[in-house]
Amino acid sequence: MSETVVLAGGTVVDADGERRADVRIDQSRGKIVEVGAELDVTGSEILDVSGAYVMPGLVDVHAHLRQPGREEAETVETGARCAALGGYTAVVAMPNTTPAIDCAAVVREVLQLGSSAPCDVHASGAVTVDRAGEALAPMAEMAALGVHLFTDDGAGVQDPGLMRRAMEYARDLGVTLAQHCEVDALAAGGHMHEGEWSVRLGIPGQPAESEELMVARDLMLARLTGARIHIQHVSTAASVAMVRAAKADGLAVTAEATTHHFTLTHAECASYSPLFKVAPPLRTDADVAAIRTGLADGTIDAVATDHAPHTQESKELPFEQAPPGMLGLETALALAMTHLGIPMTELVQRMSVGPARIAGLAEVHGRPVAGGEPANLCVVDPGATWTVDPNQTASRSRNTPYGGWTLQGRVVHTVLHGELVVANGEARR
Ligand code: DOR
Repeated sequence: MSETVVLAGGTVVDADGERRADVRIDQSRGKIVEVGAELDVTGSEILDVSGAYVMPGLVDVHAHLRQPGREEAETVETGARCAALGGYTAVVAMPNTTPAIDCAAVVREVLQLGSSAPCDVHASGAVTVDRAGEALAPMAEMAALGVHLFTDDGAGVQDPGLMRRAMEYARDLGVTLAQHCEVDALAAGGHMHEGEWSVRLGIPGQPAESEELMVARDLMLARLTGARIHIQHVSTAASVAMVRAAKADGLAVTAEATTHHFTLTHAECASYSPLFKVAPPLRTDADVAAIRTGLADGTIDAVATDHAPHTQESKELPFEQAPPGMLGLETALALAMTHLGIPMTELVQRMSVGPARIAGLAEVHGRPVAGGEPANLCVVDPGATWTVDPNQTASRSRNTPYGGWTLQGRVVHTVLHGELVVANGEARR
């Protein structure tokens, strides 16, 4: 078998822009050998990628892989397969597992489970023990294993004193504190965005302020402590405005927005389908517009999936009893290409380069497509349209709200450390 493969005839797109170029990969070394127009392909296997974009593999800073503890909904392996099929070469697993990823032993377990997965799997660590918001988790022992993002995701850290302390530790450890911004006292009992639709539907709502109050608080605490913070799944216009102002002020803050928060609004809840129940909730048209603007101008650094698998049984419960969350890894790139309306070079920034930096992976992912670089790549055909079928997924769950949507842009190949883990849209492992 040939040691090198050439992705031939595609358009390379990375942080440096777009250009017509072939890409030669050394599969055994896991590296890109050379990139250039009309490479000599003698002795190499050739993959014709004409008409497709060849770009750095995507990075998701926010995925729920459910293992350990909720393997009926997803495993590290099935979640990572969804990621690879979606063009991702790295994901950060959220810590709201059972037990929570709140100590070195569970970090080790998740990393071990991910070691043979078709996508690099990194663990985030909980900020507090069991994500209970009461005592700080042993962040240093998790950081020593390479954990870079700390969050109690699924819940915000409510106590500002504890959050201050966590930020001080994060600052000293050189890691990033990520926050699910939601003030429980305002959000409790709410199952969707509080507004005209919650009133019409008779579903208790939670106000935008339940997110915004914590964004404001944590920006203040970041200023106080000098910690680097990351605001997870920003969902309101005022949150975007606060992040923009904080950045202009020189604060070390980054932010992510999910695909669902720029493609769906609270009006979808009129179906009473729990597929549209998510935390933070789907918001208004004005919020969606602000998220899109924030992603376009770079206020929001990353598109995240918040891939949140839930079993069929749990998502068949009434809206108020069903758990929040929706699948995301297999649809994110096509949703962004179809609905975000930003140039591919910017999309690469938001879906690969930016998230790789946030996750502390910038040495290996989100790299330029150039000789000597790690061969972590995604090849996507921008001309291909496809219709989302909830039953056609590598996930153990089916809870996508996008069933029946026709999207533009299909992942053809994913290359992980030189290996073709997805070929012609099919997972190879
Ligand atoms: O919708 C959500 N689902 N938001 C979260 O914060 C948690 C996640 C989950 O774990 O299902």
